[in-house]
Amino acid sequence: MKEKSKVANSNFNHLSVLTNELIEFLEKLPKSEKKISCMIDATLGGGGHSELVLKTFPEMNVIGIDQDPQAIEAASKKLKNFGQRVKIHHASFSEFNPLEKVEVLFADLGVSSPQIDQASRGFSFQIDGPLDMRMNPSKGIKASELITKLNERDLANIIYKYGEEKLSRRIARRIKNDLSTKGHYTGTLDLAYAISGCYPAKARHGRIHPATRTFQALRIAVNKELDALESLLENGPKWLNPNGLFIIISFHSLEDRMVKNSFSTNEHLVKVTKKPIRAKLTEVSENPRSKSAKLRVARKNNLNY
Ligand SMILES: C[S@@+](CC[C@H](N)C(=O)[O-])C[C@H]1O[C@@H](n2cnc3c(N)ncnc32)[C@H](O)[C@@H]1O
Repeated sequence: MKEKSKVANSNFNHLSVLTNELIEFLEKLPKSEKKISCMIDATLGGGGHSELVLKTFPEMNVIGIDQDPQAIEAASKKLKNFGQRVKIHHASFSEFNPLEKVEVLFADLGVSSPQIDQASRGFSFQIDGPLDMRMNPSKGIKASELITKLNERDLANIIYKYGEEKLSRRIARRIKNDLSTKGHYTGTLDLAYAISGCYPAKARHGRIHPATRTFQALRIAVNKELDALESLLENGPKWLNPNGLFIIISFHSLEDRMVKNSFSTNEHLVKVTKKPIRAKLTEVSENPRSKSAKLRVARKNNLNY
């Protein structure tokens, strides 16, 4: 078996998940007649998964995509030494159109730790920041604009659908009331405090923070994450050579359901994993974020398309 390692990124503080599992699937790739194969990393982040792939498989190149300019900067630095083996694009994978077909299409969905941890990005309900939440800060509307623009009913529907939050109606009512009385929230903590207030007192200090689901919902809506995933699932098979692997890591049930459904029903794909691959206990103890990660793999059938 080729070299495997844990991947921590020093200046972009993100621990990549399920790295050994990714490498194990790539080792099973059928040998192609081409000398050089290629992986699209649709969610490059700090370049953790890509770096490991480039080190482990000297015959594999990487096309990396991310919509976050900070991730692009961090990954460009990290992967500099691989020279021409790496091409990096600042784009959403929903707008990307590769010039060549590849052997592997990989996506590690959602947000990175630096996005959450940097107050100024506005994703965190634990450190105060502006209510922004855009992965690409020069595109789309901020969370503060979204909650202002939506009416109470649509806001409740988003919180319910994308956050699976049972108190969605109560939370939406509170948000719209606050906005009409005080104009705006001062930042993420102000909103998180208002959401906590919608929970009964004894449920405010449970294992997960009361704002977790609503923040997830707003983040998904601001970044149109499920629309982007839908387009990746639809276009992905076209980007692959016959027998190429489509590998996706997801972090919540909404995404996983879409991946599972597409890998089971897409006529160009053959499911490789019957059940999702989960992180082992050792990984979860070192990186709690990996607890919710689910990796699924499909193979493109042997027809060109
Ligand atoms: C979990 S992180 C990836 C971490 C990376 N695999 C690593 O090991 O460093 C997810 C990344 O996907 C990016 N992302 C999310 N949705 C995207 C989209 N539609 N297009 C491009 N990048 C996206 C985020 O900006 C974030 O950097």
